Amino acid sequence: MNNLMRRAQQVQYWRKYCIKQCATKTATGSEFGAIPASNTRPNYDDFIGKRQQQAQRSILVQVSSEKSYPELYNYCSSFGSIINAQHYCVRHDDDLHYILLEYASAGEASAAIDAGAYSAELSGVPVRSPFLWFRAAAAGGKRSAKLAAASATSQPLLPLDGTRQLDSGLLHSLLRGAGNIEEQVLLLHKHTQLNDLGVRMRFLAALQVQQAVSGMFPEAQAQPFGSSVNGFGKMGCDLDLILRFDREPIPSNAPAGEPSRLIYHTKENLSNGRSQTQRQMECIGDMLHLFLPGVCHVRRILQARVPIIKYHHDHLDLEVDLSMSNLTGFYMSELLYMFGELDPRVRPLTFSIRRWAQASGLTNPSPGRWISNFSLTCLVMYFLQQLRQPILPGINALVKCASAEDVRITEDGINCTFGRNFEQIGFRSRNTSNLSELLLQFFEFYSQFDFHNRAISLNEARALAKPDHSAMYIVNPLEQVLNVSKNVSLEECERLRIEVRNAAWLLESEVENTTLSESERQETAWGLLNLFKNPEKAIIRPNMFFKPRMVEVSDLFDKSQTIDPPITYKNTTVRQQIQSIKTATRNELKQLRSSTSTTTSTATTAAAVTAASTSSNKGKRSR
Ligand code: GTP
Ligand code: MG
Repeated sequence: MNNLMRRAQQVQYWRKYCIKQCATKTATGSEFGAIPASNTRPNYDDFIGKRQQQAQRSILVQVSSEKSYPELYNYCSSFGSIINAQHYCVRHDDDLHYILLEYASAGEASAAIDAGAYSAELSGVPVRSPFLWFRAAAAGGKRSAKLAAASATSQPLLPLDGTRQLDSGLLHSLLRGAGNIEEQVLLLHKHTQLNDLGVRMRFLAALQVQQAVSGMFPEAQAQPFGSSVNGFGKMGCDLDLILRFDREPIPSNAPAGEPSRLIYHTKENLSNGRSQTQRQMECIGDMLHLFLPGVCHVRRILQARVPIIKYHHDHLDLEVDLSMSNLTGFYMSELLYMFGELDPRVRPLTFSIRRWAQASGLTNPSPGRWISNFSLTCLVMYFLQQLRQPILPGINALVKCASAEDVRITEDGINCTFGRNFEQIGFRSRNTSNLSELLLQFFEFYSQFDFHNRAISLNEARALAKPDHSAMYIVNPLEQVLNVSKNVSLEECERLRIEVRNAAWLLESEVENTTLSESERQETAWGLLNLFKNPEKAIIRPNMFFKPRMVEVSDLFDKSQTIDPPITYKNTTVRQQIQSIKTATRNELKQLRSSTSTTTSTATTAAAVTAASTSSNKGKRSR
């Protein structure tokens, strides 16, 4: 009971602390993530379309170093006007340097590509693509090329080394220097999210695939989806790509014209849809592997529920997952994109939670019986929907405001219709909680969530009775008979529950860090950093939480000081408290021994143990 009261008091204290520390920064838009006015939020199709056009205007040129830029700029300007230039390195044994150039029009980029030549020294199949390299000028022309390049370039080469990820030491030191947890969450988002160059590179990879098949399939579309485009991607994230040979018919109110009397001859499909897709994917996989520059290490995973081809793009240093069926993944990305646009707190919060999950070893880049990033993101979205003052609407509310232009039915009949116009949706959250409060509330919410009996529905924004015995059940928003988290084992679900409790406990105890001085804050892993432990350290055995004590009291009195692993105390106050209990107890024991009364001795030790145990609720032993 006492513990419960203390806990409630701590939470109260924490809330006051958050409010005091973070004031109203997020609710009004901070320096990092200003709330976009609704009319500045591009809808998903516009955003995708703009990026696809940008890719059509771009070429990627390998250079010997960024110092080649003036010469390259000068040379390439003869094909058109360059409006953007960015540099990055791919690190192998040597650093490989690339410059991504954007022209003012697709025609100019195309003229630059058409002016390319095939190297007589290379034996490969010559392919026309936006992936080029900049040959050194012939001996005679070197001087004049350098001279011409010396004239100032009007487009700066920015960024330099643009795909370099912030080293975790530097990131942690930035987070340590933040003013409060809110700021840490925003800094983490700002410094780890996929940048503009990363998005451009991913759309160029998609265009390469699309152009490779466009001769036979002029309507073909290779569309990026997943975290590369939904705003939840971090630097270095993979590219999920869907290749369609034909376009989904877009509903139109215009009267249909006279149907054509000329019909294309078409090869009949002799097998069923799934095996047909698998055959086509095998063929596309071979084509990518044999002909496309940069594509290597092609793997075919054709037996999966959604068959995919995986490959690495050497020039873009990018992992790609290409699928050809299942457009629901694409529309799901649109939903996540919209959730991210609806409130500026959604993405930074999700970034912190994804990083915490990664650091705690809950998520893993390879698929398995652990929770995926996508399922974890669904947990965050649901948490934001079910708040007393919701930060996100339920998907059914979006479906209700759909108009004729929003109708999307996939070829296998899955209805992906929902309102896509932010104005028509008109959702405004009245929730004023800041990011540190939300983070704590997230952990508290899932500490209590009844995964055993309840399923999560993002459609209804509420928990439902669980329809089967899966350890974790998240209704697939676009195919409601499926469970997004079907793969999660009972053990992993339990681990999640333990880790969320642990995280809630760690965040609540941050209250005490208000007393840290500026220099102590720089040296201490406080706030978010407390949550980003080493994965090895983070593995906590489930039985730890079912024990009445968080440390073995006998360990506290072990004179040898060689306990393995050593006891770590939550902070110096706890360490001091334990020390004084130990000293007091030893003194008492000494006195007792001298009075040689065995019965009294036992009672006193028991009292000391109880005292140590109470205090040790704060002393945590890392396992
Ligand atoms: P990271 O790759 O880990 O950065 O995240 P991601 O969001 O890209 O996840 P992933 O590559 O696993 O999946 C790509 C996208 O496919 C997701 O963003 C979803 O839009 C979609 N997706 C994944 N799993 C499911 C699912 O079970 N159901 C539906 N409808 N969509 C899914
Ligand atoms: Mg992905």
